[in-house]
Amino acid sequence: MRLIFLGPPGAGKGTLAKMLASDQGSAHISTGDLFREAIANKTELGLQVKAVIEKGDLVPDDLTIKLVEERIGRPDCAAGFILDGFPRTIPQAEALGKLVEVDGTVNFQLSDEVVVGRLSGRRLCPSCGKIYHIITMPPKKSEICDACGSGLIIRKDDQIDSIKNRLNVYKDQTEPLIAYYTKRGLLQDVDAAPPPDAVFAELKVVLKIS
Ligand code: AP5
Repeated sequence: MRLIFLGPPGAGKGTLAKMLASDQGSAHISTGDLFREAIANKTELGLQVKAVIEKGDLVPDDLTIKLVEERIGRPDCAAGFILDGFPRTIPQAEALGKLVEVDGTVNFQLSDEVVVGRLSGRRLCPSCGKIYHIITMPPKKSEICDACGSGLIIRKDDQIDSIKNRLNVYKDQTEPLIAYYTKRGLLQDVDAAPPPDAVFAELKVVLKIS
């Protein structure tokens, strides 16, 4: 399947995309992860986008579209992929439509209040990408990744000012995609508030996956 995961920051798109990709053998394409990798490796792209991302603004469309075009052309996407965090603007959605046909868009719904709680407690493994939350999904050993033993980090854009900005940016620039994909008969809502396993079960029902 070729899917888009849409929803506010912290709705659980990354968490659920990892679960579904591993269940279905699909590629997980997170534009946020690709940008963070470029920043960590100090590539030209990373240097260009670092300040924008830390503030919680959007990377310009041309850079983002080029990155996704290159990524979905790789062999691991042939069996299907989940786009996590792309598209995020109408021009990105139009560009994607010219590149590939998608089977559906999942809109993860979550209140602003819960978003703030999720992002301010998030921890990330910089080595293997596993996502934790200090209260809802804590690692077995405090601040250490269960999967690979690396020290966990707090994302720079998970500071309260960036979180507030990301929520505003989401409402201004990304929320219009709900109407865009609804109009095309491609949008399905999922309540992102229950625990991950319950959200995953609902996701499979919505996508008619056994
Ligand atoms: P990106 O990394 O995509 O950030 P985001 O969309 O803000 O989403 P998040 O990663 O913050 O949240 P998520 O929904 O994946 O939630 P998660 O699973 O981690 O993008 C970062 C930046 O890159 C952007 O701000 C922008 O600058 C740039 N960028 C990226 N794509 C772009 C694009 N297309 N165009 C332009 N710029 C772009 O979960 C959050 C927390 O909640 C975790 O702690 C997790 O453990 C916990 N959690 C998850 N699910 C549950 C649950 N069901 N119950 C309880 N806790 C849960």
